[in-house]
Amino acid sequence: MQRISRRQFLKYTGLGALAALSTQVSVPALALGKRLRNSEFVPDVEIALTAEETSVSILPGAPTTTWVYRAEVLSGPNDAVVPLQDTYLGPIMRWRNGQRIRVRFENKIFEETIVHWHGLHVPELADGHPRFVIGNGETYTYEFQVKDRAGTYWYHPHPHGRTGPQAYRGLAGLIYITDDDEPNRGLPTGKYDIPLVLQDRKFDANNQLVYTTPMIGFLGDTILVNGQPNASFDVEATTYRLRFLNGSNSRIYKLAWSDGTPLSVIGTDGGLLDIPVARNYVTISPGERVELLVDFGTWGAGKQIRLESLAFSGGGGMGMGGGNTTLPNGARFTVATFNISAPPPTATPTPTPTPDVSTPVAYVPFVTNSQTASTSARATATRTFYLYMMAGRWTINGRIFEMTAVAPDEVVQLGTTEIWEFANTSPSGMGGGPGGPGGPGGPGGGGMMGMPHPMHIHGLQFRVVSRIPPTNATQRANWETVKDGYVDEGRKDTVLVMPGERVQVEVRFEDYTGLYLYHCHNLEHEDMGMMRNYRVVAP
Ligand code: C2O
Ligand code: CU
Ligand code: CU
Repeated sequence: MQRISRRQFLKYTGLGALAALSTQVSVPALALGKRLRNSEFVPDVEIALTAEETSVSILPGAPTTTWVYRAEVLSGPNDAVVPLQDTYLGPIMRWRNGQRIRVRFENKIFEETIVHWHGLHVPELADGHPRFVIGNGETYTYEFQVKDRAGTYWYHPHPHGRTGPQAYRGLAGLIYITDDDEPNRGLPTGKYDIPLVLQDRKFDANNQLVYTTPMIGFLGDTILVNGQPNASFDVEATTYRLRFLNGSNSRIYKLAWSDGTPLSVIGTDGGLLDIPVARNYVTISPGERVELLVDFGTWGAGKQIRLESLAFSGGGGMGMGGGNTTLPNGARFTVATFNISAPPPTATPTPTPTPDVSTPVAYVPFVTNSQTASTSARATATRTFYLYMMAGRWTINGRIFEMTAVAPDEVVQLGTTEIWEFANTSPSGMGGGPGGPGGPGGPGGGGMMGMPHPMHIHGLQFRVVSRIPPTNATQRANWETVKDGYVDEGRKDTVLVMPGERVQVEVRFEDYTGLYLYHCHNLEHEDMGMMRNYRVVAP
């Protein structure tokens, strides 16, 4: 674990103005060339948020000590914060596109932390970079305008080296963004709009959380949905919107209905899709969101349907600590059970977006076999980020996280579009491969077949342009067990890159200059340093 001293902190911020920050950091105060008062930012919504320790009843018997986010609306619409019952999960933030948000975050846990708004396009100082961590009793004020599309986002801690354990102890919550157009979609609302936050945990004999950090990432043996085990939902035989967040530290889910009925996907990380798409199963890696539209009338009242995570291979393991769990990454298990009752007496309006699921569904559109096939008319540069193990650590291009460092090839220009390629191999083509003579920690990862890396970029939503399948036969076979569940349509902020795979995404840098992060969202990989800064500079 890496701690940052007060002095280092001031150094990282590099701003004398922030010396007074033991109480507050305010974005407009830093604007140049014009005398600005903090009062120039007039929030539409003002929220007080804390991180604190509490205990929650999760398993029968003793309650579990957890860390939770709590929030209240200080001014603005009351439903900007919706608390959830019986869970360690933070309240759902319900914000509108265009709203000006001020959040006063107070740290009441006994280590440094900071909050990050995952998926939101916000100014540098509102992004929750680890250099902005605050200690117990300190406050950080976020001010930003919501610029994102209607959809499902989330918030979680981001201190360097401690994101995994803090999120694991319970610090995470959903953000629902809405806009003027969303009501026109005819989507189910109210109790027909259900969140499903997927997490795995491990408990000791006293019902307390157990956390370990093997190279493969943390894997628990108890699946929780919205913070509770054995999830079961009583639903009516009508249409629902299900919003999934993979809030697990390193587990990947391969979601499917137990009877094989195709899934109708209406949204991904960056919000609702223009056109729904169908999948036989959906692959969702840590940090990713996916929204489904499901008509439980398909099965009918009195029936029960299970949502499962199907088996897959290539999830890692084999000497990387994967054997420590009774539920490896890629094991099959039930995620939730839905008990269907009669439809509501007054029929809910039938949502308009209904995908055509009569035709066979399979993932096809974005896969290419050529390394040069990805082109974007607008892209000014292509950068490749190799994801591989070096000297016993997961790296990006052989580098690990440094708090404020930015390499020359990590500087981008505001207003430009680029192709970023995440290549889950070493530059020599060996990493993540079968390894051979490398030995543990060698370039090949020592005879292991590599690890999946869900790659996340802060501050923007990107578009998946293409994927190049693994060339190694075993890796290719593993990839085949998850690839039909990729949902690359729409906008994304996190994309799964399987061992041996290369994924090309189109990124555009807009509105804000400054220091942002990109990293693996396997939280143990992130904490071990599989994270880097990129800097957006004015042209
Ligand atoms: Cu949810 Cu830096 O990430
Ligand atoms: Cu993020
Ligand atoms: Cu990783």
